[in-house]
Amino acid sequence: MTRYAHITGWGMAVPDAVLTNADLEKMVETSDEWIISRTGIRERRIAAKNESTATLAARAGVRALESTSLLARDLDLVIVASASPEHLFPATACLVQDALGAVRAGAFDLSAACSGFIYAVYMASQAIRTGAIDNALIIGAETLSRFVNWEDRDTCVLFGDGAGAFVLEGRSTPGGVLSGVLRSDGSGGSLLAIPAGGSKMPASIDTVEHNLHKIQMNGREVFRFATRVMASATREVVADAGLTLGDIELVVPHQANLRIIEAAARGLHLPMERFMVNVERYGNTSSASIPIAVCEAVQQGRVRPGDHVVLVGFGAGLTWGALALQWVETKRPAPTVQRRRLSLWAGLAHLRSLALRIWRRIEGLFWGTSSDG
Ligand code: ACO
Repeated sequence: MTRYAHITGWGMAVPDAVLTNADLEKMVETSDEWIISRTGIRERRIAAKNESTATLAARAGVRALESTSLLARDLDLVIVASASPEHLFPATACLVQDALGAVRAGAFDLSAACSGFIYAVYMASQAIRTGAIDNALIIGAETLSRFVNWEDRDTCVLFGDGAGAFVLEGRSTPGGVLSGVLRSDGSGGSLLAIPAGGSKMPASIDTVEHNLHKIQMNGREVFRFATRVMASATREVVADAGLTLGDIELVVPHQANLRIIEAAARGLHLPMERFMVNVERYGNTSSASIPIAVCEAVQQGRVRPGDHVVLVGFGAGLTWGALALQWVETKRPAPTVQRRRLSLWAGLAHLRSLALRIWRRIEGLFWGTSSDG
């Protein structure tokens, strides 16, 4: 029997703190007028001290589960796509798995920068289609504000923090993820990078003094690359799904720069009304930007059951990709009941995590610290 990977849940979480262009005018030599005319961005969200990529990811994950009948314990897989993970390891996905109590799930991070969410959804949808798993929670989550050089006006005006998530479930009825395109070109890796902190250039006083743990970007080159690939990936994924551009009700592009989205619309000969745009309120939230934009599109009634939707993005790597989806009506549990179930399960997950940590200590006392066995 043919299986399809349907999007049955979606959710987002953004920090409360807003950083406006007027705030940035006080930090670097820039102006509201320059930022709006060159990027379309008016404000972005910045994570509070007690927030991190994992906490935003977990909040978005719970919200995505709210529209399904699943609890975290039913999940088979958790993928977090992020360019600003909590650590090199452990994976942010494992922290989310523990926080949600996804006790049966495998969990890993996916690194494809702003294209990460598209990569992750496509990989999980293929695993669902083969029958290897029944469902997956896919999250794009970022706290890029922690990696921005706040004295570099070329980059600090662009990025913001947030998270967005999808729940994918296997179904026998057609719909969901119809086709996908994943591409890369590592020869452009240096155009957008955080040079230090990995094995090539471990952290040192020198790397910190030279801001090598912060985002460095050749904006003009990235701009040229982005305008080229957005249109080509969209055309390819639509053709792979057996559709034409005329069948697409909405394109949800990566929200990096309004001018890039407008260039893609021109390249595809589609009116801007067919593009979801919310870059003005969040800036570039990298892997989170597409799921956040999908959540707001659904909320605004711009995606309806039966609609064909394209998600398309690009990012560091260089990477780019697109997905063609058919939005399908899902049966929803009563929201208050599901919210109560999820919050009960989250409480139990917290206790379980605590118990496992205590048990590890007790075990350590019995077995000692030697690994000789
Ligand atoms: N305020 C005022 N002036 C500025 C600012 C600023 N914040 N930033 C740059 N300028 C100046 C430059 O110094 C330059 O001055 P100069 O002509 O005297 O040298 C002038 O403005 C024009 O600079 P450009 O780089 O040509 O400006 P451009 O129109 O290309 O816009 C931008 C720059 C917004 C960065 C654009 O190139 C862009 O959006 N590029 C793509 C970036 C992107 O999408 N990155 C994310 C990829 S996704 C991921 O993986 C994270």
